[in-house]
Amino acid sequence: MIPEQVIEEVKYRNDIESVISSYINVIHRGRNRVGLCPFHSEKTPSFTIYPDNQSFYCFGCGAGGDVVTFIRKIENLGYVDALRFLAKRAGMELPEETDNDGSARKRMRILEMNRKAARFYHDALLSDKGAEGRRYLLERGLTPKTIRHFGLGYASPDRYALMNALAKEGFTREEMAEAALISNGKYGYYDVFRNRIIFPIIDLRGSVVGFGGRLLSGEGPKYLNSSDTPVYKKSRNLFALNFAKDSGKDTLLLAEGYMDVITVHQAGFTNTVATLGTALTPDQARIISQYAKTVVLSYDSDEAGQKATKRASEIFAETGIKVKVLRLTGAKDPDEFIKKFGAVRFKMTMEGSSSATEYALDTIKNKYDADTPDGRLGILKESIRYIAGLSSPVERDIYASRLAGELNVSKDAIIMQTADEMKRKNREQRKKERNDLSVFSYTPGEKKDFERSRNIKAAVNEEKLIACMLQNPETIGKVMGMLDSELLATAAHRRIFEAIRKRHEQGAACSFTELNADLSIEDIGILSGIMAATGGINLSPDDIDHYVGAIRAAGNVMSKQQIEEMDEEEYLRKIREKMQKKQG
Ligand code: GTP
Ligand code: MN
Repeated sequence: MIPEQVIEEVKYRNDIESVISSYINVIHRGRNRVGLCPFHSEKTPSFTIYPDNQSFYCFGCGAGGDVVTFIRKIENLGYVDALRFLAKRAGMELPEETDNDGSARKRMRILEMNRKAARFYHDALLSDKGAEGRRYLLERGLTPKTIRHFGLGYASPDRYALMNALAKEGFTREEMAEAALISNGKYGYYDVFRNRIIFPIIDLRGSVVGFGGRLLSGEGPKYLNSSDTPVYKKSRNLFALNFAKDSGKDTLLLAEGYMDVITVHQAGFTNTVATLGTALTPDQARIISQYAKTVVLSYDSDEAGQKATKRASEIFAETGIKVKVLRLTGAKDPDEFIKKFGAVRFKMTMEGSSSATEYALDTIKNKYDADTPDGRLGILKESIRYIAGLSSPVERDIYASRLAGELNVSKDAIIMQTADEMKRKNREQRKKERNDLSVFSYTPGEKKDFERSRNIKAAVNEEKLIACMLQNPETIGKVMGMLDSELLATAAHRRIFEAIRKRHEQGAACSFTELNADLSIEDIGILSGIMAATGGINLSPDDIDHYVGAIRAAGNVMSKQQIEEMDEEEYLRKIREKMQKKQG
């Protein structure tokens, strides 16, 4: 824990406007500043800085928080590291962290254990016992140099090999289980990785944070990946980014599997990474976009790979990075391709890889039979819908021309239809914005907040109540006495409420900035949305009874259980009935 006064000092010395303006251009708008949001792609500025309370909020994607949150998100750092970053920027020294709850020590023990485990697996691969593993890797074309470079290892079929080795080093079973290296079953603890090739996962600081393991033979899942631990989150790590970040290229290749990455590195393309046994996450996309200007998707050529490609392009679209797609023919994945056709051909294919737009339009074309009128109409309609969604007018023009040529229709007709489609999209967007605004002038964050909309009346009152407490901290005690967080409609509100309660009980100050230390990035976003929506409004303590009453009443109308049992359609139907009754 870093002392509260130090945190305050760091924030005081890092004015939010000057920090953020070193990342994006901002312009004055009244007392506030606005600019293009660095966390999603947009053409009109919805990213707002509030110098008055030193916070920011994006009305487009819901990102928000204080200067520390901004640094956490943009530099992809944890809370403490973000504070260090800002302290350094302001020329301050942070006192060494005291570790009250022992979590820093625990993380260090796990990293130490992981390093020993990686070494153990690697030594096993090079020992007599590891002959099968070595044979397998050499058969798959890896050189001894590559095996050493990636620190590959071998886990024998023995159920206790690693556990015994780590026990000798003084680690307890509980620690090993917490590192996800062993697991507790019916007959007690046993090694998680057995009879597998081991791929250590190394973070940007060079620490071994987790492992992947490929089955050598027999029964079981082909790949096994460490589950999340205090030092490892699958959704925020990428395999081989520790090497790829030093490749000196402004392009990153994203492959599907460990073996693809390794073969592609060995063939000389060290700018390749992979996700870790899961689909691409927005966090991973953001990390990739921090290291590269272009990402080339080189997923498997099968149907699952194509789906993943589509999904990944959508996720990358939010980050503003340029996306290209590698279409490999004659091989299932990059690993197989390089083995069959060699590195030169791989490089050629990569250089000719098409843009995400070409890939998407190609995919549409392949869905229909262009020799029939119906097929051509289908291609036309779906392609126009896609083209209308492109943000660059030049790009729209190019693809409209190409489509016209391919289908032998006039370009003007296509341009006109695209314009119509864009108008329709705009109308829909505006309508959606109006609906959002009509309830309470804030658009819920990045994810569609279903929980909030299902309980809109209670949620809106909860938001006002939270804002009111932060505006009038002397009322917190009173509100806490009146309301149990259990009664609140959304999980985020319950967490925010609990964070306020905890600070209040500790007698600590409880302003927006201080809460930032206690909440997750997502919750800070939601809280910032609430603050942004109520920024110019004075919420009077006199209204507290009214808010609490409304929250209670809503709770009576629909219990949590009822809501859980109801699906979205049923809910919308109920609402529509209610509205019709009102109008009629
Ligand atoms: P090889 O057969 O060794 O060439 O592997 P591959 O990379 O071609 O395998 P595949 O395309 O089947 O899988 C791609 C990636 O998906 C792997 O690297 C794993 O990260 C993940 N994966 C594959 N099979 C499993 C599984 O059974 N469980 C989990 N959790 N992940 C898997
Ligand atoms: Mn493969």
